Amino acid sequence: MRVLITGGAGFIGSHMSTYWAEQGADVIVFDNLTRRGAKHNLDALREKFPTLTHIMGDVRNFDAVSTAMQGVDLVLHLAGQVAVTTSVVNPRSDFEINALGTLNVLEAVRLSKNPPILFNFSTNKVYGHLDYLPVVEQETRYAFDHNLKGITEDYPLDFHSPYGCSKGTGDQYVRDYARIYGLRNVVFRMSCIYGPRQFGIEDQGWLAHFVISALLDRPITIYGNGKQVRDVLFVADLVRAVASAVQNIDHTAGNIYNIGGGLDNSLAVWTEFAPLLEEISGLRIPVRYSEWRPGDQKIYISDTGRAFQDFGWQPTISPREGVRRMTEWIQENLGTIQSYLAASS
Ligand SMILES: NC(=O)c1ccc[n+]([C@@H]2O[C@H](COP(=O)([O-])OP(=O)(O)OC[C@H]3O[C@@H](n4cnc5c(N)ncnc54)[C@H](O)[C@@H]3O)[C@@H](O)[C@H]2O)c1
Repeated sequence: MRVLITGGAGFIGSHMSTYWAEQGADVIVFDNLTRRGAKHNLDALREKFPTLTHIMGDVRNFDAVSTAMQGVDLVLHLAGQVAVTTSVVNPRSDFEINALGTLNVLEAVRLSKNPPILFNFSTNKVYGHLDYLPVVEQETRYAFDHNLKGITEDYPLDFHSPYGCSKGTGDQYVRDYARIYGLRNVVFRMSCIYGPRQFGIEDQGWLAHFVISALLDRPITIYGNGKQVRDVLFVADLVRAVASAVQNIDHTAGNIYNIGGGLDNSLAVWTEFAPLLEEISGLRIPVRYSEWRPGDQKIYISDTGRAFQDFGWQPTISPREGVRRMTEWIQENLGTIQSYLAASS
């Protein structure tokens, strides 16, 4: 089996590359290494899997994507511009990477002699702010009113921010190419994914960012009151979700799935996460509070029932266990992380 992983040296991509290489697949990592830490991840992958191929390519370049697609059976499209803040500063570049880049991948799939299975990694941001949902404030967190468990795939799309628009565009194209060309495409709309090899920064990868900041004694700013709730998913659970969805491609092709930790793996970003982090790290962590960021959802939790129904998937790793494993990796790699932070500040 030949697996092409765009963004394969990134946080999620490096875990996908590891999994498929361990399954004996020929893995091709297509990554321009623009993300901080991607080079570090790639070096580690190459050391472990000397036969792994890296193409220093850009998804904005159709010819490069199309050449990389030769003889591929499975594509995991993870390359992307990943921060909302960056998309606001440079919406054109965000569009070209996320929307046009995804169209390039899709076209390369469509024009292949034997079109491979394609997984596209979208985001729950496509549902927008959801501010029409009644929310109640509890002691440590916000909660949905009326016993709502989470957001299903049937909620209306409402793209916010250039990032939301560019990811949403890719999401809809991938879905529609399955309908109109009969391709075996699957869309995962993901909540916050976390784990080792995540070089988290304030703008993206908040769990890793908080742990890194705490361990390096760097200031942490909480926007709003810290009771905002997110469902979080440990990256190994995501890798398992992809593997199961590939195995069940006859059921999953053409579908969209919300993939996240769900209600059982949800956390208030500071009022509940801080005590957990303090317990795991043994540190007392000071923070400063600032104004709410525009458009920050008070609560987002995915309902992953469709994934369970179609391919029997549900999360297995609790935030306590996942954060412990991620903290361990950050502690072991603190020097490298520190040098990346210094280089980019
Ligand atoms: N991490 C999350 O919580 C999360 C949540 C929802 C959706 N996603 C999506 O999952 C995907 C992977 O996210 P991640 O957290 O692993 O991010 P990441 O930044 O660690 O990985 C993205 C990779 O893509 C590469 N890349 C960027 N622009 C490229 C380009 N033009 N051509 C080729 N390669 C390029 C980067 O070098 C990096 O290695 C992204 O598409 C992101 O939008 C992630």
